Amino acid sequence: MCGIVGYLGEGNVYDVLVKGLHRLEYRGYDSAGIALVNPNGNINIYKTMGKVDNLEKFCQDKDLKALAGIAHTRWATHGEPSDNNAHPHFSDDGEIALVHNGTIENYKLLKDALIQHGCQFHSETDTEVLVQLIEYVKLTNKCSLLDAVREALKQVIGAYAIAVIEKNNPDTIIAARKSSPLVIGIGEDATFLASDATPIVEYTKNVVYLKDEEVAVIRRGKPLKLVNLDNEETNIDVTTLKLSISQLEKGGYPHFMLKEIFEQPSTLRDCIRGRVVEDGKRIMLNGVNDNKERFLKAKRVVFVACGTSWHAALLGKYLIQDMCHLPVEVEYASEFRYSNPVLDEHDIVIAISQSGETADTLAAIKMARKAGSFVYGISNVVGSSIPRETHSGTYIHVGPEIGVASTKAFTGQVMVLTMLALSIAQLKNTLPQEKINELGKYILQIPDLVEQVLKLNEKIERLSLIYTYARNFLYLGRGYSYPVALEGALKLKEISYIHAEGYPAAEMKHGPIALIDEEMPSVIIAPKDHLYDKIVNNVQQVKARGGNIIAIVTEGDKVIKNIADHVLEVPEMPECLTPIISSIPLQLLSYYIAINKGKNVDMPRNLAKSVTVE
Ligand code: F6R
Repeated sequence: MCGIVGYLGEGNVYDVLVKGLHRLEYRGYDSAGIALVNPNGNINIYKTMGKVDNLEKFCQDKDLKALAGIAHTRWATHGEPSDNNAHPHFSDDGEIALVHNGTIENYKLLKDALIQHGCQFHSETDTEVLVQLIEYVKLTNKCSLLDAVREALKQVIGAYAIAVIEKNNPDTIIAARKSSPLVIGIGEDATFLASDATPIVEYTKNVVYLKDEEVAVIRRGKPLKLVNLDNEETNIDVTTLKLSISQLEKGGYPHFMLKEIFEQPSTLRDCIRGRVVEDGKRIMLNGVNDNKERFLKAKRVVFVACGTSWHAALLGKYLIQDMCHLPVEVEYASEFRYSNPVLDEHDIVIAISQSGETADTLAAIKMARKAGSFVYGISNVVGSSIPRETHSGTYIHVGPEIGVASTKAFTGQVMVLTMLALSIAQLKNTLPQEKINELGKYILQIPDLVEQVLKLNEKIERLSLIYTYARNFLYLGRGYSYPVALEGALKLKEISYIHAEGYPAAEMKHGPIALIDEEMPSVIIAPKDHLYDKIVNNVQQVKARGGNIIAIVTEGDKVIKNIADHVLEVPEMPECLTPIISSIPLQLLSYYIAINKGKNVDMPRNLAKSVTVE
């Protein structure tokens, strides 16, 4: 987490940096700061608690003249959010300033050694160790900033994306990365750096994604130079961005989350485009077609993911088991990586991650590769680390997701998983062609059906007013609707701070049923599927105990309508395709409850969009 930006070039350095911080605020927002090298060869650092808006207010009466600068928006790991712990950090002698995204695992050891050498520390962060170490190496070896950064990084264990500037040298920024993302933008007379491409796209489409342990030397009037930690020059692969500025703006919506919920018909169209062909008869996923042998010889599929992506993975299990007759396991990446997993070359490990940067998912991928498994990635952010670390994969192509709560990425992930299961089934002949045709045709209709479900918006907004002050919620579902219940509960808790539990409906009687009373609303996802009669029983069990029920049902349902307090009707679909449709009303319900409570839905407290720390 944390976002970093750097700029060296013409024009207003401060403006470029602050605008960039706003774009990266989704990565963390407990404090922000900026370091500017001014024409007199001084560095001014301004930093403060809170969001980037606060930083702007703080800077109103400050000297903002600069030739280059670096900036940071923080999600605290080492040291509480405070002005002192905010980045950038100065070296002890005030000569060097640095911003950092990542965690330095051996910081304590390094810090103790530096203190012994007389170094004084001014914050509780692991980051300050980096800048002090660079200063120490520079003074001891009497070397350049570049050499000091390289040598210091050789002593560091952990993850870093850093940008470093020094006094008296407004013409150079040194940047480096390992396990945390960093992109360099190459403009005509300016160079940019950032944690992702969103602060850069407005100025140039030409970017370079730094590789692990690569150091970028950004100099005024000179071409970009990349070296490894041993100072050997490495290749510069320039990529052209496909991102557009309009994708990064709210487009008339009050919040990114609402915009992203309403974008789903078009994001799902983009996700399906060119992949479901011949009027639904064939599913074309290059990642599968190019690796037929690996899929044919697979004996097992193991999903690794976190959070919402883990919920999508759970749906992937149902889809692959149903369609491909393969055993499937679903693991939290954070548990998997420390659980001595038994893997071999017959396993396909599928990593799901919107950001493509989640530290635990990346670590799980590395383990799977080591064990000889075939690793397949499902990501959204093009050029991020996960697609680069996997053998093959599929992008969900839903465009930048900026709201911290995942919405369009979830439906995109489920869509890709559905197409993935179908294309494996096609390859292995585990599903009759007529069934593939039927599902393929439905998939092509999904964007229009989502558009129809979004018409429930006003009804859900009214409904939300009744339940805004509930203190607990239960979300129940069975089969394909169980992961939807988990996802609905996560959406509510993360943006409204209401406690919500997702549960398999039949498990309720083994404990959670004790919680039910008139103050504990239940959201029950109950479309017409092969478990419908069973879930009707669960709906009755809740009602019999005085619980209020909001049910997501198939259009025309009469039975549940007579029992539940409120129903939200969604179009009839084949069972395996219902999750995409039934998750939309739950996204809207969470959004409106959080808005009624006055919460910041795009930036919920304590969270960050891209979890690049353990
Ligand atoms: C919840 C949410 C998180 C992410 C999780 C994994 O709305 O967004 O739970 O799903 O942090 O992130 P990615 O998918 O980027 O690996």
